[in-house]
Formats: sequence, structure tokens, C-alpha cells
Amino acid sequence: MLNKFDIPGERFDGPILVTGAGGCIGAWTLSLLSDAGVEVVAFDLSDNKRRPSFLIEEEKLNNIPWMTGDISDTETVMNTVEKVQPQAIIHLAALQVPFCAAEPINGAKVNVVGTVNILESAKKYGIKRISHASSVAAHSFLPGSNSLKTLYGAYKTCDEQISEVYWQDHKVPSICLRPGIVVGVGRDQGMTSKQTVAMLAAALDEPYDIPYTGNVSHLFAGEVASAFIHSVSYEGDGAFVFDIFGESINIEDTIKMINKVKPNSKITSSGSEMPFPSKLSDTPLREHLKKRISDYGCIDTMTMIFETIKAFEILLQSGQITKDYLK
Ligand SMILES: NC(=O)c1ccc[n+]([C@@H]2O[C@H](COP(=O)([O-])OP(=O)(O)OC[C@H]3O[C@@H](n4cnc5c(N)ncnc54)[C@H](O)[C@@H]3O)[C@@H](O)[C@H]2O)c1
Repeated sequence: MLNKFDIPGERFDGPILVTGAGGCIGAWTLSLLSDAGVEVVAFDLSDNKRRPSFLIEEEKLNNIPWMTGDISDTETVMNTVEKVQPQAIIHLAALQVPFCAAEPINGAKVNVVGTVNILESAKKYGIKRISHASSVAAHSFLPGSNSLKTLYGAYKTCDEQISEVYWQDHKVPSICLRPGIVVGVGRDQGMTSKQTVAMLAAALDEPYDIPYTGNVSHLFAGEVASAFIHSVSYEGDGAFVFDIFGESINIEDTIKMINKVKPNSKITSSGSEMPFPSKLSDTPLREHLKKRISDYGCIDTMTMIFETIKAFEILLQSGQITKDYLK
């Protein structure tokens, strides 16, 4: 599955610092980079390498330098960047919707101050290749939107605007991606992780009710990781914000596709529609990157579901994941 993404490894001659490396997208980013032979340094609050270990063999993972620290602590970030001297930064560390709602002050520190810290460090050390994560949840704050407003979305909107100011005032370039709903091995937390949980339940032959309905984004974790990497494969020339959504699929059709892989699966869905946009275009991002470097690749939803269930079956067989992982 990883091999379907063509990573321009020859474009890098210095390390890439990946923040939030222990998260779902971080794990896929580490995996794609290490497979392409690109030097990478991981940074995360936690030294728990569980998600990356699902994708990267032990010896390779042990060879990736892993730095722990709090992204919201300015001194920690500055010291990390001074030490690593990265050619590029892929900034993914963040707290998701429920965690920001539960702890708004910490959410603002991690999701907003953390991004300012990264951009300040880029300014100080002259780093010209930065990609960072906003979210589809930022759409709620665009004029005319009637999507649910969350603190998480507010913080991400703020990050988008902050990065524009860093380009305007300091010529610190960046590409900010707004992922839709990321699906794949390693996606186990946040309000939109349930499509992936359903695939794990199918692998386990367990019943599972996806607690939302309607048309939603299906964005493969490897695909969005590839886009973050492509976005730092050349020196930036502005501050850009793009949607990255994958396919818009009705949850009922997702369940049908799961049933094609596991005919006796007991997956259902109920509840209201996701309070975020049900369809957005990847074309502006693809065109932007194609002009500067190359397309970041794409996987259709049926293949994504097939490969994800098969990967879960292998992880269950090897004991790397147990039934408790569903909870
Ligand atoms: N997964 C999605 O569907 C999705 C959708 C839209 C946007 N995003 C954004 O993409 C990025 C990556 O998402 P993900 O799914 O990999 O998230 P995740 O929750 O799986 O991982 C986030 C990582 O950030 C780390 N982190 C949290 N607080 C930190 C701190 N104070 N200092 C350092 N590290 C810290 C966590 O330990 C974790 O490993 C995030 O910015 C997220 O908001 C994700």
C-alpha cells in the first residue's frame, strides 16, 4: 500500500522534522519517508511509538531519532530546531476536537501557540519548507458556512491566518492542508475516527455502529501523508491553504464496501450527518503541487478499505493489536 506513493526522496538533503510523529498521519509520514530513504527526525509529546510500529519494521523505527517535548513550549521547540537543523518541517502535533473541547486552554496552547512556535523557529533558522495541518473543521468559520463551529476549528482557522502573516511579514513560506476524514491503520482517536474503527471491527468479526450517517470524506492516511511530504519537497513561495478531502462517500456505501471484503460483517450506522462539509475538491492542491513538483498520488476508497482491513487482520494475527484496541 505504501508503494503506491511516489516520494521525491532525491529532493531532500537534510533531515525533515515531523511533529506529532506518534499520531496517525505522523506514523504514515515517517513510514513513507523512511521507505524513501529520507532522513527524518520525530518529535512528539509522547515516546509511544505504537502507531508507527504498525507500519514500520522495528529495526528501521529504532533508527529514527525520536525527540520528546511539548510543542507549546517555545524553548523546547527552538532548542529542537537548533539541534536538528531540519531542511523541512512537517507540523502535525495537535489536539483533536474532543480534547480541545475538554481542555480549551491547553487546546489553544498546543494548536495555536505550537504553530506559532514552529513558524518562529522557521523564521529564526531560515527554514523555507514547512507544511502544517489545518482541518476541514476550519470551513465552519468561512463566510456562509452553517457547519458546526468548534474550538478546534477556531484554532485551526487561526493557524491558517497566522501562517499568512508569517509570509507577509517575514517571508516564511508554508503550505497548510485541511484534511477531511483520515482513514487507515493508526486512526484511533477523534470524532471522525469511526470509519476506521468499523474496518477494525470487521476484521475482528465484531458488530459496530458508526455513529454518523450521510456523505463524508474518505481520505487515506498514506495519501495525506504523501501530500504533506510533497508540500515540503521544494522551497516554498508563499503561504497557501488547501483542502484535501479524498472521496466523498455515503456511509451506507462504505458499509457495502466493507461487506465486499468481509461478507458477514456486522457494521451499521446511525445518528445524524457529520456537521462538516460533505464534499470538497482536491484539485487546487493537486494543480499547485503538479506545477511545482509532482502529484502526491491517490488511492480509491475500495482499495483503501480492502488494504486497511487486511492490514488489521495481519496486526491482529501478530498480536500487535488486540480486541481492546476498539475501546
Ligand atoms: N485525522 C484526521 O482526520 C484529521 C483531519 C483534519 C486535520 N487533522 C490534523 O492533522 C494533524 C495530524 O492528525 P492525526 O490524525 O495524526 O492526529 P493524532 O491525534 O493521531 O496525533 C497527534 C499527535 O500529536 C501529539 N501531540 C499532542 N499534543 C502535543 C504536544 N503538546 N506536543 C507535541 N506533540 C503533541 C500526540 O501525542 C499525537 O501523537 C493534526 O494537526 C490534526 O488536527 C487530522
